[in-house]
Amino acid sequence: MKRVLQRPPVGVARTAVLIAAARANEQRHLRRLFDDPLAAGLVEAAGSANDLNGVRTLAGEHFVLRTRYFDDQLLSSAQPQVVILAAGLDTRAFRLTWPPGTTLFELDLPDLLEFKEDALHDLLARPACERVVVPCDLREDWATALIHAGFDPKRPTAWLLEGLFMFLPPDAGEQILYWVSALSAPGSTLALEHVNREFRELPQMRAVHERFGRMDARWQSDVEDPIEWLAGHGWHATVTHQVDLAAQHDRAVPAITDPRKVGDARIWLASAIRTA
Ligand SMILES: C[S@@+](CC[C@H](N)C(=O)[O-])C[C@H]1O[C@@H](n2cnc3c(N)ncnc32)[C@H](O)[C@@H]1O
Repeated sequence: MKRVLQRPPVGVARTAVLIAAARANEQRHLRRLFDDPLAAGLVEAAGSANDLNGVRTLAGEHFVLRTRYFDDQLLSSAQPQVVILAAGLDTRAFRLTWPPGTTLFELDLPDLLEFKEDALHDLLARPACERVVVPCDLREDWATALIHAGFDPKRPTAWLLEGLFMFLPPDAGEQILYWVSALSAPGSTLALEHVNREFRELPQMRAVHERFGRMDARWQSDVEDPIEWLAGHGWHATVTHQVDLAAQHDRAVPAITDPRKVGDARIWLASAIRTA
């Protein structure tokens, strides 16, 4: 029997268990959009995420579609370095087929990564690339920690920022994008998720905000135009709508992203290439 580890994630780090639970749930789907054989074991090690079932019911299908979207973005960009900021319980280092020589850096809060390493050890997980974990607080100087961990700013990089920006104050998000851009050699790619103000203010999201607020994981920011935001940092971006993603994968449009139900409220899924 798997053990529940001593220090399961708390606070904002607990949101990582919620996403892993959605990925674990997808494994029961006959035509699942990705394989994540480690997700269930990670959730189990955290002692379940049942207290967050309400959030998963609302957004679980979005988490699944976004996972597949970012999988495809990372694999098609085929860079020698991959950096996942706020990796949480992401297992892409283990479950995707990477080009030989790929180094993948995972950044997140120290307690979360300590838990994850213990749990992965118990699950006998073996990475499919060179995997480097970089414990840090992304509101502080994470760039120095990343370089000390072996990141080479002269090599092109694929960056992923999934499920992060909304939890940070706007100035911290701005700083992160500044450093991501400063560390990006020509040809680097970036994929991110964010939300607009209308999404934050949706009546359907009130219970989520209430739940996250109680666990010290309050949403603190949004962006009106991710293409313009990224252009200001030297990136050429495109945004993919969940309606198109759902059609591409023969899935129903997640209600929380369906324009017929949420109007102009958006969860942005953007991918970009470095132009400056
Ligand atoms: C919703 S989870 C997303 C995790 C992962 N990207 C995924 O989609 O499965 C948010 C993650 O952001 C991390 N996080 C939030 N604030 C952070 C900070 N200041 N520094 C580092 N990580 C942070 C949390 O620990 C958590 O793992």
